[in-house]
Amino acid sequence: MLGQEPSTVQNVLAPPAISGRRLVKNYGPHRALAGVDIDVRRGEAVAIVGPSGSGKSTLLHVLAGIVAADHGEVHLGGSRIDNLSEARRSLLRRSEFGFVFQQGMLVAELTAEENVALPMLLGGSDRGQALQAARHWLDRLGLAGRYGSFPGELSGGQAQRVAIARALAHQPSVVFADEPTGQLDSRTGAEIMNVLLEICAETQAAILVVTHDRELAARATRSVAIRDGQIESAVLTA
Ligand SMILES: Nc1ncnc2c1ncn2[C@@H]1O[C@H](COP(=O)(O)OP(=O)(O)OP(=O)(O)O)[C@@H](O)[C@H]1O
Ligand SMILES: [Mg+2]
Repeated sequence: MLGQEPSTVQNVLAPPAISGRRLVKNYGPHRALAGVDIDVRRGEAVAIVGPSGSGKSTLLHVLAGIVAADHGEVHLGGSRIDNLSEARRSLLRRSEFGFVFQQGMLVAELTAEENVALPMLLGGSDRGQALQAARHWLDRLGLAGRYGSFPGELSGGQAQRVAIARALAHQPSVVFADEPTGQLDSRTGAEIMNVLLEICAETQAAILVVTHDRELAARATRSVAIRDGQIESAVLTA
């Protein structure tokens, strides 16, 4: 795992945290990605915007190794990862990547702290240590006192905070967030986006966040617009 790195100069000199090269993905005759190049550095937040069906989720899934590209390469910290075995990629996903989805996708039968600890437990962490880390992240996300709550007992915003804690607790180098605020009202959405960006900046994770909300996208370091599976423009917003 890559450690914390306070120097942004080092971040610029280091290889990008995650890179996609000439990525192509076809679903039957439909071309979902048509040759996408993308680099995201540690400490950088990239908003992925574009119309429905333009390939945003597909790009995230291909970069994360959940979906295999038909052509192109994916590099993590300068090393090619798309050609690794499924077992190695699955291990990388657990240790190096964090995921936040539109709906928290929390396990209904587990408490908030157990949900956050789950990826660490699956990765072989000690139960006590995993739960301690889970509580630390729940505190960080303003959920102290909700350790024992089940997802059904939480508001949408609280559940999404648990999902963010779960995505960040193992200190991933890359965080993929696919419309993390899509189900929330605009005020809660803005709060959730703020906390997500703040923590990623603090831990120097690279984050790719898909959003339909231009205002939320403007909070990222830069925005990348996708149309018909191709990058249309990259706009520096901060
Ligand atoms: N598993 C699949 N099988 C077939 N076609 C798919 C599959 N996944 C995505 N597609 C198609 O690929 C294209 C890109 O889909 P994708 O989900 O990446 O779009 P998106 O930009 O995330 O859209 P949205 O904003 O609606 O989430 C769409 O035309 C979609 O129908
Ligand atoms: Mg999508």
